[in-house]
Amino acid sequence: PLPRPFTLPLRIPDVLRPTSTHDGTDYYDITQREERQEILPGLKTVVWGYEGRFPGPTLVSRRGRQTVVRHHNALPVPTVVHLHGGKTPAEHDGYPTDLVQPGARREYVYPLDQPAATLWYHDHRMDFTGPQVYRGLAGFHLVHDDEEDRLGLPSGDRDIPLLITDRAFHEDGSFRYPSRDPSLRGEPGVTDEFMSGVLGDCVLVNGVPWPVLEVEGARYRFRLLNGSNARRYHLALDPPPPGGVAFTQVGGDQGLLAAPVEHERLPIAQAERFDVVVDFSAYRPGQEVTLINTLGRGGTRDVLRFVVTRRGRDDSRVPSRLAELEPLSRDQARVERDFVFARGGAEHHGTTLWTVNGEPFSPDHVAAEVRPGSVELWRIRVQNVAHPVHLHLVPFQVLDGGPTTAGWKDTVDLDSGGQADLLVRFPDDPSYAGRYVFHCHNLEHEDMMMMANFDLR
Ligand code: C2O
Ligand code: CU
Repeated sequence: PLPRPFTLPLRIPDVLRPTSTHDGTDYYDITQREERQEILPGLKTVVWGYEGRFPGPTLVSRRGRQTVVRHHNALPVPTVVHLHGGKTPAEHDGYPTDLVQPGARREYVYPLDQPAATLWYHDHRMDFTGPQVYRGLAGFHLVHDDEEDRLGLPSGDRDIPLLITDRAFHEDGSFRYPSRDPSLRGEPGVTDEFMSGVLGDCVLVNGVPWPVLEVEGARYRFRLLNGSNARRYHLALDPPPPGGVAFTQVGGDQGLLAAPVEHERLPIAQAERFDVVVDFSAYRPGQEVTLINTLGRGGTRDVLRFVVTRRGRDDSRVPSRLAELEPLSRDQARVERDFVFARGGAEHHGTTLWTVNGEPFSPDHVAAEVRPGSVELWRIRVQNVAHPVHLHLVPFQVLDGGPTTAGWKDTVDLDSGGQADLLVRFPDDPSYAGRYVFHCHNLEHEDMMMMANFDLR
């Protein structure tokens, strides 16, 4: 039932308006509910969406301006909302067991005392994050600030968030997710062959299979987010811009880079964000340019097609200096810790689970006690397969990580056998004391125990 690639127009998620605004705080209301959405032409897919949509509406905040999001869970199962990349106090961070029961409401308070960045919000229910995100519980939350405004980057309808996910469908248009218990009320986990993560055969951008977007011959800023459960992509433009560079990266997970970084090919793992500028003036009017995934084949090679309409007026710039970033150095780290992300140490129904340092996730087990205001060196090692490792609350810098790990990040992808040294800065402010998780962002690995806690106090 899949459409022909590049026949459906790209959709851009609506920006959610605040329900009210007072005393410097914006209040939003979101209902998590089931709705039938036309993803495949002529068929209806039941999605679990924020406001009934996949992706959910985009929230837009200003740095330092408090945002309160009131979630109403109208779904048949418990949920938890996590703002990925948000500097959020523990009680509002969406701890995996801090459930919002069906029918209940819950207020999440976000100080957003952090630089302009592309954040996203998604479900984080313990043992069920994979299937619940797969059904649609994900959306963008953008943060802007004055420093970003001054740069003159492409903006308005030339600043476009792109949520890239893969999905598989049954004949009737429903999502095909191999849950052990499809109601998601009983037994967590996937059927055995999907221990390594659930992949689809169709790439959706903003919930549309292989969409097409008309662009003018001008610069565009794309906020690329890989929201897939288990798939990574290597993105490239086909054809590459004659005499130009495909992607000029201006931002990463946690905001603007110090200076732009040029990429011909962009590897993007689950939960990573790359803010890139693409200059379509290098192409001629009428030309088709395809965003492809060089790791994929067939339906997972095609991503999105741009059609260049005409030369457009363009006042945007990509300055050679973007943001002030303080580079951390190894000798600032007073504490060093080792974490191994691998398979083993725990079993469930005869399958060996994914763990951190051989320990399966438990809300009661603290892997690291960390001090406010400190910088620590976390040495992450990864085995068996690649794992994208994500830390809640804290941005980090990757030591000697190469061009795709520039700037402050919150997720780092490592190949099997790989290692990374992360310099992690913990906030000084006592309002962030508490327990947070860090985990693999392959969502099936996360659900199958590859998660641990750190306690900030
Ligand atoms: Cu994007 Cu703990 O999550
Ligand atoms: Cu993993």
